[in-house]
Order: sequence, then structure tokens, then C-alpha cells
Amino acid sequence: MDYSELLTKRRSVRDYEDKEVPLDILIQIINESCLAPSSSNRQPWRFIVVTNREVIKRLSDESKRNLLHDLERNPDFMSSNYEALLRNQHFNVFYNAPCLVFIVGPKKLLSIEVDCALAASYFMFSACAKGFATCWIDLGRFINDRELLDLIGLPERDRIVAPVIIGYPKDIPGVPCRMGPEVLKIVS
Ligand SMILES: Cc1cc2nc3c(=O)[nH]c(=O)nc-3n(C[C@H](O)[C@H](O)[C@H](O)COP(=O)(O)O)c2cc1C
Repeated sequence: MDYSELLTKRRSVRDYEDKEVPLDILIQIINESCLAPSSSNRQPWRFIVVTNREVIKRLSDESKRNLLHDLERNPDFMSSNYEALLRNQHFNVFYNAPCLVFIVGPKKLLSIEVDCALAASYFMFSACAKGFATCWIDLGRFINDRELLDLIGLPERDRIVAPVIIGYPKDIPGVPCRMGPEVLKIVS
């Protein structure tokens, strides 16, 4: 796959085959994610892999519950279009994907969001090059229950930046509409 094809084929996929992602390939993808640039080359990202479907469902339910709670307290927190979806008990924010990877890092680090986002980007491209599909699931980031956080092994000092699902795609959608770039000015 050449680079242009990779850019086109890397799509957010929300429908997966009922087939596990082999762990050795997942580790290769994680290794390639670590080739991402990071502030001062700190490489602060850490990875948590969840393949237990019951745990993935619990994580989805917990995140939905917290999002709804925040939405009730602050209606401007997110678009109200999400409310019905979050209230739907059949809606799994992780779309029943066979594997969920949390990219996490130290809460206190200023660049943690950017560093982990870059690692997530590399993760999604690496997965795509190997025939897998992914989707970044921000709706799955709101895990507060300490028992559940302990279960997935998130240390107190870290926070979740990027939950990314991965699996074999049932279908790869076309590129969703993109606005043209807005070049504000070329100062020559
Ligand atoms: C930071 C971030 C958060 C996202 N959160 C969600 C999400 O919670 N649920 C979802 O279905 N897609 C989510 N997406 C996927 C976007 O909807 C998707 O990237 C966008 O529609 C463009 O499609 P493409 O990735 O195929 O180019 C997220 C993407 C990013 C970058």
C-alpha cells in the first residue's frame, strides 16, 4: 500500500468481523506507534489492551453513565444529539469491536494529549497498513470507577487520552466529505 492509498484507506470503521486481532500483530502495531514524534522525545505514551468483551461492555456502560451525568449538570458539555444514543442501553460506544486499546500517559505532563494523539495516529495508520481498521472513540474515555480502572491497570498518575478500537473491518467506507484547507495567509 503506498502512502496515498494508506491515507484513503485509513477510515473510522464502526462495524467489525467477529474475529480476534492476533496479539503478535497488535504488538507490532503498538511498536510502530512508538515511532511517533513526541515532545523532547519523552515517549510518554503507555498502552492498555482490552480484548475481554464483557470488560469492554462494562467500560462502555461506565463511560456512557459519566457522560450522561456531565450532560445533565452542563447541557453545553456536548451536543444534545448524543443524549438519546447514550441512553440507548444497546449502544456500545466501542461498537462491539473485538479489541480496545487505551493510549494513556501521565496527567501532569503538559504535552500528554498531543504526544498520545500522535501515537494514536501512527497506531491507526500502522493498523490500516496491516489490513485492520480502527476508530478513535472519545466517548469511551470517561472512566471514573477506580475498581474498573484498577482492573484495566491504569495507574493513578495516568489518564486516558485516546481509546482506539481495532479489528477486521466488515467494510471500509469512502472518505467522508472534507472541507478544503483554509490557508489564512501566505507571507512571502
Ligand atoms: C479525537 C477524536 C474523537 C473521536 N471520537 C469518536 C467517537 O467517540 N465515536 C465515533 O464513532 N467516532 C469518533 N471519532 C471518529 C471521527 O468521527 C472520524 O474521524 C471522522 O468522522 C472522520 O472520519 P475518518 O476518520 O474516516 O476520516 C473520533 C475521532 C477523533 C479524531
